[in-house]
Amino acid sequence: TALHKMEAPTDASAVNQPVLSKEVTVLYGSQTGNSQKLAKKLIEKLKEQGFQTTLSSMNDFKPNTLKQVENLLVLVSTHGEGEPPDNALTFYEFLHSKRAPKLEGLRFSVLALGDTSYEFFCKTGKDFDQRLEELGGKRLTARVDCDVDFDDSAAEWMDRVLASLNEASAAPSLVNGGGAIVRSETQTEYSRTNPFQAVVVENLNLNGRGSDRETRHLEISLEGSNLQYEPGDSLGVYPRNHSGLVDELIRAMGWEREELVPINKNGEERPLLEALTSHYEITVLTKPLLEQAANLFPGKGLQQLLAPGNEQELRAYIKNRDLIDLVQDYSLKGVSGKPFVSILRKLPPRLYSISSSPKAYPDEVHLTVRKVEYEAHGRNRYGVCSTFIAEHLELGDALPVFIQHNPNFKLSQNPDTPIIMIGPGTGVAPFRAFLGEREEIGAQGKTWLIFGDRHFSTDFLYQIEWQRWLKEGVLTRMDVAFSRDTDKKVYVQHRILEHGKELYQWLQEGASIYVCGDEKQMAHDVHAALATIIEREGGLSPEAAAEYLARLQQEKRYQRDVY
Ligand code: 2AM
Repeated sequence: TALHKMEAPTDASAVNQPVLSKEVTVLYGSQTGNSQKLAKKLIEKLKEQGFQTTLSSMNDFKPNTLKQVENLLVLVSTHGEGEPPDNALTFYEFLHSKRAPKLEGLRFSVLALGDTSYEFFCKTGKDFDQRLEELGGKRLTARVDCDVDFDDSAAEWMDRVLASLNEASAAPSLVNGGGAIVRSETQTEYSRTNPFQAVVVENLNLNGRGSDRETRHLEISLEGSNLQYEPGDSLGVYPRNHSGLVDELIRAMGWEREELVPINKNGEERPLLEALTSHYEITVLTKPLLEQAANLFPGKGLQQLLAPGNEQELRAYIKNRDLIDLVQDYSLKGVSGKPFVSILRKLPPRLYSISSSPKAYPDEVHLTVRKVEYEAHGRNRYGVCSTFIAEHLELGDALPVFIQHNPNFKLSQNPDTPIIMIGPGTGVAPFRAFLGEREEIGAQGKTWLIFGDRHFSTDFLYQIEWQRWLKEGVLTRMDVAFSRDTDKKVYVQHRILEHGKELYQWLQEGASIYVCGDEKQMAHDVHAALATIIEREGGLSPEAAAEYLARLQQEKRYQRDVY
């Protein structure tokens, strides 16, 4: 996108005013779409106030135009062990390299998205903030680090950014007379902050008898919502906390279930039982939470745990523990529900990659959700949303949902483009949507699915559908890796390595690669396997193979939906 520079003022009354730029560039780095959505919202606000705007993902932004930018707003999330999102990576590396220009004329501010339950909380945003300052930029307003319940903090940051830009530029309020903008009423739009109550029409276990996994196939009706989605998008789901945990917490604290407590900053109140069930997170401990608990319950030993030098111990303590552990281990008592809930995070929605094509199932959305369950510190622990879906969600129930568009995981616009889909476990979900879509539009491009799970006999998710698609030619080729049917583990990356020649051939023919599923291990291992076959089959050096993959990523021919 070209940068639009401000025209010199021609209006005589403006002559004596300092000529200040009203041009603002907004760059986002987004994996699941949150930063991107916030960036769009910010652009709307900037436009309403008469600013000239440029909006771009970091990787689509031409780094050599950075020097011309006067106002830069950065919205970026952090993933895994403090890593930037895929579409921020090239820009991140450029900015942190020696090639980065001096940015003395730049004014900037950063909105960092993250999760306080991770050690490298908001690291990417912090890095950008620090680096832009090092390069000579001046802050318009301080960086804001958002936790998973980012809506309020993000809105506050935007207000501050706008105020600061308005203060610094020549009375932009003249543009719209300084008055309120009149907006026309629109019909209800369901969103993250206003979810749709969707009816559950199917809820099946996809795993066979005897499997050690439980994977739910959910079918949800979107009738009457006007919600639209494309393959690759996700569905946000608001779960409820397990009633057993809520009861135990209330009992341990000696609270009254009916006590009215606030559920948001507007002062809306609900009975404690409902607030702890549907509005607050009770299953994750974070450092900020413990710090606030230490203030609320002085003299209980929490200060020691938080003391400098104790970081390792703190990290070990909060891992896989929940609020019940905390109140029991530190004998927390004697504080009513109201101040207590004020230190909790809002229960965040969970995002699931949609497993249906809207063309194949109009007015419906399907999910593929694996129940998370493990043992830690002498108790069974359950994933909040997956367990709620597997054990408590019945047909006919209403589930609060919204669509999370994911522009970074999109089926190629060209139906002739060959696609390679790598999705072990529930990572296969979006590929059911991709193939459903390709079947509906009668696409001719070749398709290759690489799937893996533990056992062929019990864990071959959607086996019948893949087989039908193979027979009908919608699916050209499928390879499977069942990790626990043989003595030695076989994973999807082993299949990639085995079939490197053909896979490289597909890439040379213009295929796009999609990877979905576990980020920590699988996505890294798959990336390494792809690099290996490109090196081997293309006769390239490791550096050239890495560049090959980076180029694919830049051209949006290598996309990942990993979590
Ligand atoms: P495992 O549980 O036998 O280790 C879906 O969960 C599948 O992904 C399972 O077969 C699981 O194998 C496998 N898996 C686990 N770690 C992986 C990794 N690093 N790369 C690819 N697949 C992996």
